[in-house]
Amino acid sequence: MEKKYKVKEIKSGWQDSNVANTYDAKRFSSISGRLSDWLDKRAIKKTTASLPKTVKILDMPCGTGRISHCLLSLGYNRVTCADISEDMIKVATSLLKPFPHVAFYKIDAEKTPFENASFNAIVSIRFMGHVPKDVRIKILKEMGRICSGRIIVEYPVTNPFARFVKKVFKKFTVEKKLPSQWTWHYLSMAEAKQEVAEAGLVTKKIVRKLSYISESAYFSISNVS
Ligand SMILES: C[S@@+](CC[C@H](N)C(=O)[O-])C[C@H]1O[C@@H](n2cnc3c(N)ncnc32)[C@H](O)[C@@H]1O
Repeated sequence: MEKKYKVKEIKSGWQDSNVANTYDAKRFSSISGRLSDWLDKRAIKKTTASLPKTVKILDMPCGTGRISHCLLSLGYNRVTCADISEDMIKVATSLLKPFPHVAFYKIDAEKTPFENASFNAIVSIRFMGHVPKDVRIKILKEMGRICSGRIIVEYPVTNPFARFVKKVFKKFTVEKKLPSQWTWHYLSMAEAKQEVAEAGLVTKKIVRKLSYISESAYFSISNVS
């Protein structure tokens, strides 16, 4: 049977209280979802390991706040959350209530109101896969402008082996995944590296979410070579 993918426009699709209120349960409550969430947080821990706890970090897009929560739990107290969706921010505000000093901004990652070098670090998880190449480059350039240090971006990278593993996993897993509502753009590792360079930034380190079988890599990027 043909899958009916519902392709939503990425900027407006999340501005919906139902999408925001059900996001965490839909995405991260299954066994594979919980594993994915755990692997994201493990990758965040690895990629931020060398960052002093005093750095000012922007989580963009923060979504429902799970990555900010992870950063705050790791001891990073100067976290700022930004997202285009007020509904997602509302959920994040509730999750992050124990950390009253967190600032929230409803903004577009393509053009933010922040001054040059406002942050020492940026994390951007589960975002690049949603947007096409020209927009990704625009966003990377904007991140390079507002960040003086490390930019950690999750890229949806794939390879034939990872695709094969996913196919086999899907065939045998008891969990039947619903067709995705969203578009997701995959790149090869070489294409992702090329894109970072096109945005005038430098890839310093790449951490794969789960060795070679995962279709996700955390790029540690800098705007100075
Ligand atoms: C898949 S969620 C990821 C959220 C979070 N980073 C995480 O890993 O759980 C994607 C988020 O991107 C936000 N978003 C989409 N387009 C955006 C834009 N142009 N600027 C800022 N946020 C945007 C959506 O509102 C949504 O919260």
